[in-house]
Amino acid sequence: MSAATAVLGRVRVLPVVSLTDAALARPLAEALLAGGLPIAEITLRTPAGLAAIAAAAAVPGFTVAAGTVLTAEQVDACVDAGAGMIVSPGLDDAVVARAQERGAAAVPGVATATEVQRALAAGCTDLKLFPAGLLGGPDLIRALGAPFPQVRFVPSGGVSAATAPDYAALPNVLAVSGSWMVPADAVASDPARITALAREAVAAVSALVP
Ligand code: 3PG
Repeated sequence: MSAATAVLGRVRVLPVVSLTDAALARPLAEALLAGGLPIAEITLRTPAGLAAIAAAAAVPGFTVAAGTVLTAEQVDACVDAGAGMIVSPGLDDAVVARAQERGAAAVPGVATATEVQRALAAGCTDLKLFPAGLLGGPDLIRALGAPFPQVRFVPSGGVSAATAPDYAALPNVLAVSGSWMVPADAVASDPARITALAREAVAAVSALVP
């Protein structure tokens, strides 16, 4: 198990954030850390994404998962910037292979049993389920657990503070993921609110030992 995966398995919450300004990354990481969340997925959906990954990864004790990683070249750039985990919305064999070569945890996205099988063939057992809410939510994860007991899911997309505990209570959920604890206005100007939301999210899932 990679160091990043171990962190995720311990806190069981993965905030997903897209930053328009890399200068927000360090205060965001510090605010999350203060709330007991030493990890975040920072996506490449904005031009500032890569610089934000580097800035957050430089914060002592903070682990960065790079998100929306779509190419092997992006894997290299994110690992070079300090990311310990490579997350994608879907499954791309070249992305997975490069992450494995570079020693980063590969967490590709899946939406069907066929994609789970392909991810297993690529050597991945920690899988993002995206978009989890639309695909069937906790019931789908329960159903996929029967044929794939070795898989640990990271449901993301449509997960909320209200539904996170339903996912986190499942034994085959590694961590719940989403943007509910990192709203853009608070990321931009209210670090105390980020800390409070992080603390609430961690408390909501840590009570549930699967
Ligand atoms: C992701 O990439 O996982 C999602 O964009 C997070 O989805 P949410 O905004 O619905 O939580």
